[in-house]
Amino acid sequence: EHPQLLKGRRVLVTSGPTVEPIDPVRYIANRSSGKQGHAIAAAAAAAGAEVILVSGPVQVPDPRGVTVIHVERARDMLAAVEEHLPTDVAVFAAAVADWRVAGEAEQKIKKGPSGTPGLSLVENPDILATISRHKMLRPRLVVGFAAETENVVPNAKDKRIRKGCDWIVANDVSPATGIMGGDANTVHLVSAEGVEDWPSASKAEVARRLVARIAGALA
Ligand code: C5P
Repeated sequence: EHPQLLKGRRVLVTSGPTVEPIDPVRYIANRSSGKQGHAIAAAAAAAGAEVILVSGPVQVPDPRGVTVIHVERARDMLAAVEEHLPTDVAVFAAAVADWRVAGEAEQKIKKGPSGTPGLSLVENPDILATISRHKMLRPRLVVGFAAETENVVPNAKDKRIRKGCDWIVANDVSPATGIMGGDANTVHLVSAEGVEDWPSASKAEVARRLVARIAGALA
């Protein structure tokens, strides 16, 4: 049923949010269901690839036939990604927190007379940019995502250059679109060759289409 388009290929996918602890019971995180990233991992596995999925905490189940590494923080996600290279392809669909909390508390912060605690933030590593610029271990094809609420395609073109990846899959995540957390997606594939506007489709269908494009690029 599934043509083995990616047989013999190793594919790494990131998915879901990262969560950045404030203390042992509190965190900051991004909104991400993991649905699109998990669908890509599942579609790559169905196409015969050996797939490593590095995922933040999500409600969706681990896809079958995929090696899943569960992580929480961005730094753990980067470490897990680096540990599983080299691969032929890497698809970075995770919504990584741009910042983490400086000076994570070892004990639960208590309410009290000393008042409301302030949070100071420090920048997280950019996993996509780091891997795109890896001297030895850069996958042949590196695909990033861009979730935007305005100027979707121009922002995605800038992002492709800034991050040093090959493709950006851009989508409009304005609340009105229902894409965030939903089962459908409308994406634009931005590459050095230009921009393709894909028709709205299920996240599973977008994943299959992306896998077919990836197979074409590797052939
Ligand atoms: O800069 P922005 O977060 O919009 O970029 C989105 C792309 O970069 C996604 O592919 C996301 O997985 C990746 N990213 C990352 N590490 C970060 C921030 C974003 O891998 N710290």
